[in-house]
Amino acid sequence: RALSILKEFEEKCGTPSSNLKQVADAMTVEMHAGLASEGGSKLKMIISYVHNLPTGDEKGLFYALDLGGTNFRVLRVHLGGKESRVVKQEFEEVSIPAHLMTGSSDELFDYIASALAKFVATESDSQHVSPGRQRELGFTFSFPVRQTSISSGTLIKWTKGFSVEDTVGQDVVGELTKAIERAGLDMRVAVLVNDTVGTLAGGRYNNPDVAAAVILGTGTNAAYVEHAHAIPKWHGLLPKSGEMVINMEWGNFRSSNLPLTEYDQALDAGSLNPGEQIFEKMISGMYLGEIVRRVLCKMAEEAAIFGDTVPPKLKIPFILRTPNTSAMHHDTSPDLKVVATKLKDILEISNTSLKLRKLIVEVCDIVATRGARLSAAGIVGILKKLGRDTVKDGEKQKSVVALDGGLYEHYTKFRTCMENTLWELLGEEASENIAVEHSMDGSGIGAALLAASHSQYIEVEE
Ligand code: BG6
Ligand code: GLC
Repeated sequence: RALSILKEFEEKCGTPSSNLKQVADAMTVEMHAGLASEGGSKLKMIISYVHNLPTGDEKGLFYALDLGGTNFRVLRVHLGGKESRVVKQEFEEVSIPAHLMTGSSDELFDYIASALAKFVATESDSQHVSPGRQRELGFTFSFPVRQTSISSGTLIKWTKGFSVEDTVGQDVVGELTKAIERAGLDMRVAVLVNDTVGTLAGGRYNNPDVAAAVILGTGTNAAYVEHAHAIPKWHGLLPKSGEMVINMEWGNFRSSNLPLTEYDQALDAGSLNPGEQIFEKMISGMYLGEIVRRVLCKMAEEAAIFGDTVPPKLKIPFILRTPNTSAMHHDTSPDLKVVATKLKDILEISNTSLKLRKLIVEVCDIVATRGARLSAAGIVGILKKLGRDTVKDGEKQKSVVALDGGLYEHYTKFRTCMENTLWELLGEEASENIAVEHSMDGSGIGAALLAASHSQYIEVEE
């Protein structure tokens, strides 16, 4: 019986190339629709107001704040201009207590601002900004925001594990600025960016061929450089560069081609945001472990794989985190020792047979493979939109996709499968012009770089 549940799950999760190509096509279609009009698609295709990516000339001391998951980071980046580039970068990582993720806006922003104030207090004498000058900050806020300028935007909705109702509809820079003032700090928020946009900026600083950035972490999303004239819903002046960075919010993508299963539907129904972020719920780190748990739960209930009763811990949503299923998936010991240890430590299940442990690894493999292959299809969708998925007239323009996020960084089998699928879908010739690059913590530096190019002092210096 367990094997038949596994087989059925595997079939439903199938992602043959032909199907992934349809997913990529659907992504391209939705991108067009989201660019055509506000609300025209599940893809928000948010205009970021970033139309000049870093050049290398950025100079000075800037702060960055990166809020997007269970941790947030504060950074101090010293930019040295063309010759010396990033001279120094320091950061501190602070975890967000769970109760603040679903509490009030003031509490959340006060917590962040006070951590920022503490970090600022560690400035050495040489790091002080010149007298009469305000400190400036790039704010990376990794949630869907309707940008109203480069330094303002209202929160559309929370995603991932956050649900702070009174922030929705508010200008998040306003919220942060008020909290910064309450913390007694003199600092100006110069730019507001999504983590994908920050990663794109950081990636571009190191490699001029970077055309898109993808986050595979707690959540998943992508940003890319669009031709400004290809954005019908943009009614502002065409930027001189002719470009505009678009934050796709692809986590909310949905298509009839997605291999959704009963487990995904149940996960979605019980989530903080039912009906939303369906692509994200099939791919990202917040959810992969939970899908595995749901499949094991069904096997425990209907095939008694863990004995007559369902182990009580297995019934607890989100108890099995993706780093745990990743560790089980990568277990190379002949008797699958890691699997046994995880089952015991997390789920209080002991005495499992080797056969059962192998079955569990299979489940992890099916879930990770589907997520990795779908994310590759998403990337192909972007390349198609840019006309870079095929080689035209022997053209050799390189396109680099900058990637970051815990899932990409730590889940090796996921990363390898994602990259292999990309080459499989693109074919040999096109693959030669495409590269993926890990842009480690690029979003923090990216936000600092954009703060520098949008500094209130920039004209004075020029
Ligand atoms: C980090 C980036 O490396 O990856 C962040 O600097 C981003 O901006 C994060 O939000 C996403 O990964 P995770 O796994 O922390 O959600
Ligand atoms: C979620 C957020 C998005 C972010 C992504 C990765 O999808 O909505 O803004 O970029 O997670 O952190």
